[in-house]
Amino acid sequence: MSQSSKRHILITGGGSGLGAATARLLAAQGHRLTLVGRRADALEQVAAPLCGMGADVRVQACDIGDTAAIDALYARFGTETPDGLVGSAALLLIKPFMQTTLEEYDQVMDVNVRGLWYLCQQAFRTMSARGGGDIVLVSSLSGIRGLQIAPGKSVYTPSKHAVTGLTEALAFDGREFNIRVNAVAPGYMKTEMNARFGLYGGAQAEEVAPSVAYLLDRAQSGATTGTTLEVFCNG
Ligand SMILES: NC(=O)c1ccc[n+]([C@@H]2O[C@H](COP(=O)([O-])OP(=O)(O)OC[C@H]3O[C@@H](n4cnc5c(N)ncnc54)[C@H](OP(=O)(O)O)[C@@H]3O)[C@@H](O)[C@H]2O)c1
Repeated sequence: MSQSSKRHILITGGGSGLGAATARLLAAQGHRLTLVGRRADALEQVAAPLCGMGADVRVQACDIGDTAAIDALYARFGTETPDGLVGSAALLLIKPFMQTTLEEYDQVMDVNVRGLWYLCQQAFRTMSARGGGDIVLVSSLSGIRGLQIAPGKSVYTPSKHAVTGLTEALAFDGREFNIRVNAVAPGYMKTEMNARFGLYGGAQAEEVAPSVAYLLDRAQSGATTGTTLEVFCNG
């Protein structure tokens, strides 16, 4: 696979936070983007100004927790499947362990782990047919050593450890297909995810997006694969 300067990159969670910041950065670099999330209006709000500046940014409403929706997303791509994937979509739950239900466990795990795993499988199938590709997942410092340790993350923290593990495992599977799989593990960011739980501090997502772009770009990150880049931005 030749890494042309203009790639087709799928960004999940592209309607807000780190996914949106990454979309703005990659669009400025000239890449064609497909932004995915559940809320079409949020995706449109990110895409419209970028398209207004001449970028090729499309949006697809898709629930990553729903494997049939992921199948439908890839069916709509036809032959124009992405050669880059940024997996930023995730759900946060902060709730005391003893009050957390199995339904809530499934809801978070279905998006953060099961859906992501299935999305990566679709990406592998299509990227391998194209001759290769690059995947950047989004873990968390709380997916490394519990650096963001706080009570109430009995589902979220294990889900992010799973992302770190998936990154390492898929790097090995990707070698024979010329697919690199890396992850960023950000600290505390000022995004909707935290605001929903009354947490308003942290770094701007724009300060973390360059790490995603770096790992996605072979000219920058070269042979790096299976690596989770810690972005210690807690400050
Ligand atoms: N904020 C932090 O402090 C922090 C720290 C470490 C790691 N992270 C990670 O950074 C990534 C981005 O989070 P963020 O901070 O940017 O928060 P965010 O603004 O809430 O972004 C999360 C995105 O995921 C999408 N999403 C959620 N469930 C989805 C589903 N079922 N299907 C499709 N899309 C879905 C949301 O869009 P819809 O609601 O429209 O679906 C939203 O755009 C996440 O993986 C998160 O775990 C965040």
